[in-house]
Amino acid sequence: MGEGGRQAHWENVYTTKSENEVSWFQQRPAPSLDLIVQAGATRESAIIDIGGGASRLVDNLVEQGFEDVTVLDLSAAALAAARNRLGAAAQRVRWIVADATSWEPARAYDIWHDRAAFHFLTDADDRDAYIARLGRGLRIGGHAIIATFALDGPEKCSGLPVARYDSAGLGRTLGAAFELIHTERHEHATPWDSRQNFQFSVFRHVG
Ligand SMILES: C[S@@+](CC[C@H](N)C(=O)[O-])C[C@H]1O[C@@H](n2cnc3c(N)ncnc32)[C@H](O)[C@@H]1O
Repeated sequence: MGEGGRQAHWENVYTTKSENEVSWFQQRPAPSLDLIVQAGATRESAIIDIGGGASRLVDNLVEQGFEDVTVLDLSAAALAAARNRLGAAAQRVRWIVADATSWEPARAYDIWHDRAAFHFLTDADDRDAYIARLGRGLRIGGHAIIATFALDGPEKCSGLPVARYDSAGLGRTLGAAFELIHTERHEHATPWDSRQNFQFSVFRHVG
């Protein structure tokens, strides 16, 4: 699926469904919050949530005192939902409407977080474009936390095919510039209580 089709798909999702009508909804994104802290993030760390959608990760990060948080998503409607929910606190967050395969990072972040966005890139050229941006948008020594469906996770998400990974496969895909330092599995319960197996892997950017 090309960029235009992707954007249309996600705008349609976020304009027709409320936050707890989507399978990926989490009241509190605990695995991500724990891994961000374990990666050594401080209040001043520059953190970006790639494909953050309307996730409550940003609410939790702001509430915990993180001062430099950016959320990027290709759906303007998703970001609008998160901003509206945050109210005045939304002004403390940077919001970027862009496709992660064509966006040009203007700075290098300390923490790059992606839960269930990278796995939609089933085309090698799109993955290469994303990884090039990861290389430019994550400082050397910074950490990428990438969560995807696990090898025994669903084959589709939001009706779209996904690429499933274990940490080794994800590491091979990202390449030698990213060193695996931690991985864990997570069983996500959807709002209708079905189960989806995720893997969360943390990589250090070694350059
Ligand atoms: C399954 S949702 C996950 C949302 C959020 N990360 C969470 O955990 O709740 C996937 C998100 O990735 C976004 N997305 C998909 N492909 C993208 C791309 N190429 N660039 C930026 N965002 C993308 C979608 O708009 C959607 O918000």
